[in-house]
Amino acid sequence: MCGIVGYVGAGAGMDVVLEGLRRLEYRGYDSAGVAVLSDDGVLQVERRAGKLANLEKVLGDRPLAGSLAIGHTRWATHGPPTDRNAHPQVDCGNRVAVVHNGTIENFEALVAGLEARGHERRSDTDTEVVAHLVEERYDGDLAAAVRGVCRDLEGSFVLVVAHADEPDLVIGARRNLPLVIGLGEGENFLGSDVTAFIGHTREARIVDQDQVVELRRGGVTVTDLDGTVVDGESFHVDWDTAAAEKGGYEFFMLKEIQEQPDAVRDTIGGRLTAEGLLHLDELAMSDEDIRGIEQVVIIACGSSYHSGLVGRYAIERWCRLPVHVEMASEFRYRDPVVGRNTLVVAISQSGETADTLEALRHARAQKAWVLAVTNTVGSTVSRESDAALYTRSGPEVAVASTKAVIAQLAAMYLVGLYLAQVRGTRDPDEVRAHLRDLQSIPDLVTEVLSRMEPVRALAGELADAPRVLFLGRHVGYPMALEGALKLKELAYISAEGFPAGEIKHGPIALIEEGTPVVVLAARHALSAKLVNNVQEVRARGARTIVIATDGDESVTPYADNIIRIPDTKSLLTPLLTIVPMQVLSAAVAMAKGLDVDQPRNLAKSVTVE
Ligand code: AGP
Repeated sequence: MCGIVGYVGAGAGMDVVLEGLRRLEYRGYDSAGVAVLSDDGVLQVERRAGKLANLEKVLGDRPLAGSLAIGHTRWATHGPPTDRNAHPQVDCGNRVAVVHNGTIENFEALVAGLEARGHERRSDTDTEVVAHLVEERYDGDLAAAVRGVCRDLEGSFVLVVAHADEPDLVIGARRNLPLVIGLGEGENFLGSDVTAFIGHTREARIVDQDQVVELRRGGVTVTDLDGTVVDGESFHVDWDTAAAEKGGYEFFMLKEIQEQPDAVRDTIGGRLTAEGLLHLDELAMSDEDIRGIEQVVIIACGSSYHSGLVGRYAIERWCRLPVHVEMASEFRYRDPVVGRNTLVVAISQSGETADTLEALRHARAQKAWVLAVTNTVGSTVSRESDAALYTRSGPEVAVASTKAVIAQLAAMYLVGLYLAQVRGTRDPDEVRAHLRDLQSIPDLVTEVLSRMEPVRALAGELADAPRVLFLGRHVGYPMALEGALKLKELAYISAEGFPAGEIKHGPIALIEEGTPVVVLAARHALSAKLVNNVQEVRARGARTIVIATDGDESVTPYADNIIRIPDTKSLLTPLLTIVPMQVLSAAVAMAKGLDVDQPRNLAKSVTVE
């Protein structure tokens, strides 16, 4: 997620904002910038790709004087991480500066309107439209102008805006993403979280949904989008800096698990047309190319491989195309049969995994079309692919991948639906219906997250288990693999995932009295068979922990513990069943006193083969 800082006070605005950006570096970013309003009303903007040090070097040579400033560390989603795409973004006259976190879903329509009205676009970002829209609306009341712009925006955003004609006013606004006010004496702050200003004040106030903040030296006013003043409670921040970076959670992974609704929402956002269909220009494939695809090959490692396995079910179901999912580390040594009419999808959160990179290079050498599905704009995988579809989960700090994986799942559903839409294997109304189901997922994930206390309570009972099995059928099988991987990598427990129908062919011999078996039993046409599998393992002494859909009592008699998830289409259930397994694995690791964020022997990005 991007880092945002705003300041108005008596101090050196540039220094205050740079300090705040340094404290926000943990969020991950690939460019940074500041805007400082000089005492004679000039908005001075400096921004640089890369790390903060690049910006600080420029500012060291040419410091920007002024006591009103805004700043930003950007995690690229729209447009590569370059100087011109860094924030702050400005309007035509360089009198409005904007920093932004989130995704403006209707930015293409807004850009078209602005260009038709003579505005000149100077970046690849969605953010820039805000600066031009404020420029158009500003008539001396900056808060009113920003409120009007927010009413025009669709999607998730945090905005902080400065105007050359407003020497005592910084405006903040938020929808779906966090923004916090820091309350000082003769100075006030805005931050994407409290770490942005914790060095200056520990008095803070949360900005609520669709609220607009007027930040002045003498005080703060908060309104709703209609301009009605709203009251709010301030609170004292008693976290230390390390805790503040984790949003008060003990580990980044716990925070990132909670960010999953936004990860799904932002990955879907901005990719639907006004008619409710998909437009994935990022695939950079003509409709004719897409209709010419004869097979799909998905290459990935680890959790990304599991996302690919789920993608296979969706693509084969919706597109009637053969899909092969390959461990990237094995792919090229198999001398695979791929060629011009093969769409290869390389899934990689980091975009730097050596196995995946080598596999995609091999595929490209065979003239296949390679689409990267990655979380990292400008990564090697994205640069060496023919096209890139970016997940938008924001930077993921914990080694065990959570929000990036759920975003990958969402992205793979989008790929499957888009191929089906273009190839005509699903008619527009079916595509719209599936997209509506996908758009309901973020709220359903939020609901699942609200039910996790009983899951955490299981942790102590599993901490000493010598082994744990995970069983699933259909799309539940890749989730069984993912659940096992999470428990392995976080709690160092020997865990294995199996297709539930496979256990009688050998693995059932592993069952002893009390062996925990986690069963992914979300409502499905195969539920009756899955119930039989649960009975089979229970009859041999297994301790059955079942993830089941609300209202489905078929498996209840055979479950020692039931974890309920809301109902959704069976093909989409991985987006919900993945959450309890993440929560369980993290809780078991914590019960064992392990480092949840940095498990032994593991790296966040495996850049060696
Ligand atoms: C996931 O929890 C693991 N940390 C690991 O399996 C990871 O998914 C794998 O290394 C692939 O990484 P990538 O998505 O960055 O390519």
